[in-house]
Amino acid sequence: MNKALRKAVIAGNWKMNNTPDTTKATIEAMKPLVADADCDVVLCVPYIDIPAALEATAGSNIKIGAENCHWAVSGAFTGEVSAEMLKAIGVPYVIIGHSERRQYFGETDETVNKRVRAALDAGLIVILCVGEVKEERLQGVTSEVVRKQTKVALGGVSEAELDNIILAYEPVWAIGTGLTATPEQAQEVCADIRALVGELYNKAAADKFVIQYGGSMNAANAAELLDKEDVDGGLIGGASLKAQDFSVIVKAASR
Ligand code: 13P
Repeated sequence: MNKALRKAVIAGNWKMNNTPDTTKATIEAMKPLVADADCDVVLCVPYIDIPAALEATAGSNIKIGAENCHWAVSGAFTGEVSAEMLKAIGVPYVIIGHSERRQYFGETDETVNKRVRAALDAGLIVILCVGEVKEERLQGVTSEVVRKQTKVALGGVSEAELDNIILAYEPVWAIGTGLTATPEQAQEVCADIRALVGELYNKAAADKFVIQYGGSMNAANAAELLDKEDVDGGLIGGASLKAQDFSVIVKAASR
């Protein structure tokens, strides 16, 4: 089973939630609950919470990520934060191309690709998000949409650099809606993305490429999603804000 080649990654995406104080409290509650995890555990938090999160997780098995980064190293980009800046303060992970960035902040496949390139150049590990909207699923073009997003985002990425990319398949209709994809739907698309990586690179690269599912994953449904052959982890929104719920998902991924 190729699944055994890949270490599961459970990542939280806090979105625009928590202050430094509540960051500290949430992480203190979470730490003992996930200490024996047999998977990678990541929390992606708002920029303002990163110093508190780094301090609270020091010496633990929880790694910290940002939720976005700009493609330039520095310059006149008011309100943006560069990958180099994240690296400089010791942040190892960054989410890029989240559907909320695409939907509300004008991200395109091309700007996602530029951000991926910058993050890799800075030495960050990228959690790259792709996913179709409801209309696209209903029109039967999920595969085309997800393949295009993935292919453009991976433009200029070498096979060796794939080791620093985790792909998160997040159907937009399942995000924050309570409408989780069925395990079969998640498996179908994750397998399709893996096949694409095989076409773009080779089978060995595809076999070790980590692909998460995201979209209303919670303590109750995580196990059956994570059980699927091509689902190697989860990107968790709402349930990552609650230490107990997040820890149940981490346990489900620990195998
Ligand atoms: P929810 O788990 O709240 O649906 O959010 C998923 C998500 O967008 C993670 O990036």
